[in-house]
Amino acid sequence: MPKPIKTRRLVLRELMDSDVPQLAHLAGDWDVARMTARIPFPYSEELARQWMETLTPGEFVRGTTFEGTLVGAVGYVPNDDGSAEIGYWIGRPWWGRGFATEAATALVRHCFASGGFKRLTCCHFDDNPASASVIRKLGFRPSGATTAWCDARQGEFPAQCYELNRPIAAVLWRLTA
Ligand SMILES: CC(C)(COP(=O)(O)OP(=O)(O)OC[C@H]1O[C@@H](n2cnc3c(N)ncnc32)[C@H](O)[C@@H]1OP(=O)(O)O)[C@@H](O)C(=O)NCCC(=O)NCCS
Repeated sequence: MPKPIKTRRLVLRELMDSDVPQLAHLAGDWDVARMTARIPFPYSEELARQWMETLTPGEFVRGTTFEGTLVGAVGYVPNDDGSAEIGYWIGRPWWGRGFATEAATALVRHCFASGGFKRLTCCHFDDNPASASVIRKLGFRPSGATTAWCDARQGEFPAQCYELNRPIAAVLWRLTA
């Protein structure tokens, strides 16, 4: 099993079968699902298990845990141009504690230090100011507006896109990753 990624308060680790009920419960919250591209609504344990078993090649997903409890997930999907699109969500009971920023900061560092990516991308729906704030705190810069599919809402919605180039300091991160 790959080494977990540790932050000040969180551990990002591989998902396990035993995570399925908590995953389905937290990601099945309408206010989580509707802000993501790919979480359907309603969500079920069966759908969560299917998702875990059918990740696309190159896709990276880690469960975000706090004091041993699964509180969300982070991950990336490689883009066709050699960059990667990152994503994250935190279960509603843990919103507003800086967890998304802390987990996504570690994910970004992992992408640059160990994933070999030189550029990362990220998008949020226009009606998701909390994610806009997280992306800004990560240092991403706007790269344009688009529309993106939302499984939960079954439609295309306006979204904002961002990008982040690998910083020079990533050379040092490689040594400590
Ligand atoms: C977006 C999400 C990941 C944020 O998680 P979190 O752990 O609460 O995030 P953080 O605490 O690290 O940061 C949230 C920031 O958004 C801000 N924020 C929260 N609600 C806001 C709102 N309605 N308007 C503006 N800013 C808001 C917070 O003040 C905070 O910024 P600050 O630290 O500058 O004060 C979480 O709400 C979530 O999972 N939502 C559903 C799924 C989702 O949106 N995933 C991302 C898809 S792009």
